[in-house]
Amino acid sequence: MDQGNVVRASVIGCGYLGAVHAASLAALGHEVVGVDVDQDKIALLARGEAPFFEPGLADLLQAGMSAGKLRFSTDFAAAADCQLHFLAVGTPQMRGSQAADLTFIHAAVDALLPWLRPGAVVVGKSTVPVGTARELADKIAAAVPGALLAWNPEFLREGFAVEDTLRPDRIVYGLPADAAEAEAAKALLDQLYAKPLASGCPLISTDYQTAELVKVAANSFLATKISFINAMAEIAEVVGADVTKLADAIGFDQRIGRKFLNAGVGFGGGCLPKDIRAFQARADELGTGRSVSFLSEVDAINLRRRERVVELVLASLGDDYQQKRVAVLGLAFKPESDDVRDSPALDVAVRLHGLGVGVVATDPQAIGNARRLHPQLDFAATAEEAVDGAEVVVLVTEWRQYRDFDPKLAHALVARPVVIDGRNCLDADRWRDAGWTYLGMGR
Ligand code: UDX
Repeated sequence: MDQGNVVRASVIGCGYLGAVHAASLAALGHEVVGVDVDQDKIALLARGEAPFFEPGLADLLQAGMSAGKLRFSTDFAAAADCQLHFLAVGTPQMRGSQAADLTFIHAAVDALLPWLRPGAVVVGKSTVPVGTARELADKIAAAVPGALLAWNPEFLREGFAVEDTLRPDRIVYGLPADAAEAEAAKALLDQLYAKPLASGCPLISTDYQTAELVKVAANSFLATKISFINAMAEIAEVVGADVTKLADAIGFDQRIGRKFLNAGVGFGGGCLPKDIRAFQARADELGTGRSVSFLSEVDAINLRRRERVVELVLASLGDDYQQKRVAVLGLAFKPESDDVRDSPALDVAVRLHGLGVGVVATDPQAIGNARRLHPQLDFAATAEEAVDGAEVVVLVTEWRQYRDFDPKLAHALVARPVVIDGRNCLDADRWRDAGWTYLGMGR
């Protein structure tokens, strides 16, 4: 890269979002320091090890560090020299409320302020309630005149985070209202994203509020699309229709599209569930709660699908379901991730265990995280071990190894060949041909 285009950037918060962002910026040729208050996480990252499962991340970390482009620190002083400071800390759901907890983002800005220089730009990446950027901009301007704030929402998907960061499908800038300040912030961001912009990535420059809303609107739309098809699954279950065929048929309409129309146990993860709840909570605060009241319904439909899977398991086990062995395939909220935050798969395992069912759960990556939260569960290292002696097999995360699981081999291991396909990802005919009772979601 032309040295003139190299930007010195800090990334505050090195979780799923920040670690990937830091490594990706280094891969784009910039000089990056990742800062986090978690010493263990920083120690791992500084050794070039990803603190969580994310395909491609470890390679990128090692490449960035051996090129001398990437370092990590627990000390905010390490960010002093940077032109851009990305805020990539979590904004989880607040305990006992639907709203987002902004403690970490305020703490990050407060810790950064002593090191912030006039002319530097703080760039928000975290998902926040609309209005947060304005508040932070005022705080920054009061403490460090000449330092600026921009909002640059992140749309990366776990499991594809590296790809999504290096080759985003759009870039959004929320810029200050003052024209000169907006121009200064935009110039630095343009320099940072020179590569994706040169390859034709669309850029939308707008105000803070719109940039904040873009993120929650996108996630709300995706959540709504999933809950829409899951609502159709509920109807299909009543009338005996097949929701997967229905999704194929409506998905051919280009205005609708087939993506995110997979009915199943529903959405989870660190974003969709908490983002729709926080959006509803923020809209309520603003007196416009009715505009997004459908999001409460989206959430309710989503949570009902987990209950549905549990009901199917209990119905298959019969009245004396207690202590009967059930294999739960999957714990992560989706494949290619070890993330169990608000995971429908883990929730199903925990609910069944709570009802006295003898659950044995497995996942290629997420057992460690699941065990930390729910040590009461029994875990097996492989699908073969998990299904051994099971009376029902329930698939709740569509990892490739489970989709490819040989139904004949599995048949030889189980006590009773009943499979509940909570992700509609198995070939129903193939499983039935191998002697299984196959139950899908909405089919
Ligand atoms: C999401 C957004 O996609 C991303 O743009 C944003 O930046 C963060 O939130 P992520 O949480 O990584 O990303 O997961 P995503 O791939 O969107 O899946 C979310 C959940 O929806 C998963 O639990 C997945 O299993 C579920 N899902 C997805 C369905 O149930 N059906 C579908 O058709 C698609």
